Parts: sequence; C-alpha cells; structure tokens
Amino acid sequence: MNYTDKYLSEMAKKLTPYEWESNVPEDILRFDTNTLPVPPPCLESFINDLKIKCPINEYGDPSYTKLKGLITGYECFEKEMITVTNSGDEALDIVTKAVLNPRDFFIIQPPTYEMFRIQSEINRGVAIQVPLTQTFAIDLNRLLKTIKEKQPKIVFICNPNNPTGTVTSTEYIEKILKNSTGVVLVDEVYREFYGKTSVLLLKKYDNLVILRSFSKFGGMAGARIGYLMASSKLSQVFDAIRLPMGVSWFSYKFAELLLEKNTAWIKSQSQMIMRERSRLTKELTELGLNVVPSQANFLLVKVGDKAKELYEKLKDNNILVRDRSNKPYLEGCLRVTVRNREQNNQLIKSLRNII
Ligand SMILES: Cc1ncc(COP(=O)(O)O)c(C=O)c1O
Repeated sequence: MNYTDKYLSEMAKKLTPYEWESNVPEDILRFDTNTLPVPPPCLESFINDLKIKCPINEYGDPSYTKLKGLITGYECFEKEMITVTNSGDEALDIVTKAVLNPRDFFIIQPPTYEMFRIQSEINRGVAIQVPLTQTFAIDLNRLLKTIKEKQPKIVFICNPNNPTGTVTSTEYIEKILKNSTGVVLVDEVYREFYGKTSVLLLKKYDNLVILRSFSKFGGMAGARIGYLMASSKLSQVFDAIRLPMGVSWFSYKFAELLLEKNTAWIKSQSQMIMRERSRLTKELTELGLNVVPSQANFLLVKVGDKAKELYEKLKDNNILVRDRSNKPYLEGCLRVTVRNREQNNQLIKSLRNII
C-alpha cells in the first residue's frame, strides 16, 4: 500500500488482504470462483416486472420480513433465528464484530477460506492455526486440545471446506460445540452440493452459528446476499450490528423470487453439479492428475511443479482456474470449479491438448 503509515491503525498496517484475479476478460470461462454456470430462470420475469414496478426511490423493508419467511421455509427453520446479510462475507464481519474483543483468539483450520482470518483480524482477533491433516480432514484431537488451552471466542469450520472440498461429520461438529466456550461458526455455503447440514444442532447449542450465501446455491453471486442462522439471542445482536438497509432492494427482491419460484431449479442444478463432479474427477484422474475427492462444486487438483505453467496455458485457452500453488498447505495445487457439461468439456479438451 502507498498510504502513509502515520494515518493507519496497527491492524491496517499489518493486514494481509484477500487476493483477487484482476483485469479478468469478460468472455473468459470462469473455473475460478465456484459459481453456478447460469443465472436462475426467474431472472427473466424479474427483469420484465421491473419495467412495471421498480420503487428504487424508496428504501424498501429493512427487516426483510418476506424474505425471512421464505428462508424459514427453505431451511425448515425459525424466523427469529435468521439474519439477512449483504453476502456471506458481510456475515463474517457481523459475527466477528459481535463476538471478538481486541486480542481474543479465534481458530482457523488451514487450508480454508481466507476471509475467516481476514475478517477476524480486521475486528482485532488473533489467529490460532490448527491445520487440517494430510488428507485435509479436521485434526479433532489437536483441535479439542487447543480449544481447551486457548478458549477461543470463535472456531471456524467450513463444511464442505473451501478449497479442499472435504467435509466434517455432524458427530465431530457436535463434539466441537460441546467443548467450546465460544461460538462455533459452521460455513455451509456449499451445502447443496453435499446434502448434509448442522441446522438441527441449532436447537441444542446456543453457541452454533451457521453461515449461508445465495452466491453459490442460488446462482446469484453478483447480487451479494446471504444470511446467518443462530439462537434468537445472538440473532438479535447480529441484526443490531448489520447495516440497517445493507442489502439492495434488487438483491432481496430477487432472492425472494428465487425461493418462491426456483427451488426445484436449485435442486436440479446441484444434482447436475454432483453428476458433473464425478465425471470431471474421473476425466482429470485419467489425465494423470491427482484430484482430492470433493463434496463441493469445485475440485482441488494436485499438479506439482507445473501448476503455474498449467494455469497460464489454460488462461491462454480462455479458461481461468484458481491458482493456489504458492499458498501454505496447497503447494502445487489448482482449484477448479465444476460447471455444466458443455463448459466442463471445454476444460477437459484444453487439458488434453496441454497435457
Ligand atoms: C466458504 C465460503 N464462505 C463464504 C463465501 C462468501 O460468499 P459471498 O460473499 O459471495 O456470499 C465464500 C465465497 O467464495 C466461500 O467460499
């Protein structure tokens, strides 16, 4: 950064920010962001209806009451335990603001979603790392021991985990909840591609927080909308911390329409992705690549020394994958989104040519 240090907080001086792909050409095939291959079908009627009614001069409903009702139906859960947020990432900001005092500990289990660390550090927490095992599973004994010793205010569990696609059983999650004096945040952004959830544990544990986002299952990453599920007491605090009108009218109205009209589509898309995930895993393995078995809509591929070169060659073929090869615990790895049959075929074809 070019800023003069004297203006900055100690946190800002030390912050390692999230890394983006910059200058991405509009027509490139995106295998790097774990999004769905197409927007939801209700987009067309949403756009048509805007021509008739679009009260963009007003604020809308800051309590998101209708949307909360629809989420309640989708999750088979309770309205008072939902907080609507401007994206999954803002949900992380809200939880870390609500829970952390300066210098409080939080536990992350690398390699995992980097925003857990970034958002917690922005809100003055101190990271403790309990890395995943060689097979990218949770190191339960070490985790429980660290929780006992350090009494962290938050333990982050990504289920399925980004970028490995590996999962943690409900049995393990319950053990972690029982042994934690702080909050356990389970990120279920990729749940639809796995099929299992910890939602039922919310009735039993008031320290459980579940994070969700419309970005992945709803094909709405550009709309920026997500939600949290937690005890009604915690949810009241999350609601007090979030911006009063933080989600744009377009986004929450579109999310309402998605849950009113397109839940069957959500199901069929995730089923399609799961079928394609098996096929892509098989095809990449046949090409001699080492693929980590995944329960999400992406694959972690261990390429080795040639990872950067493969990434560049795919880019020359108008295909963008996520290069993780210089990250700790991910040396030589690329992460590849599972898209639809046609797009995956383009990836396979390019890989065949290159390899
Ligand atoms: C594990 C995980 N959690 C949360 C998010 C944030 O999603 P969004 O901010 O798009 O809602 C992502 C995005 O990639 C993710 O991979």
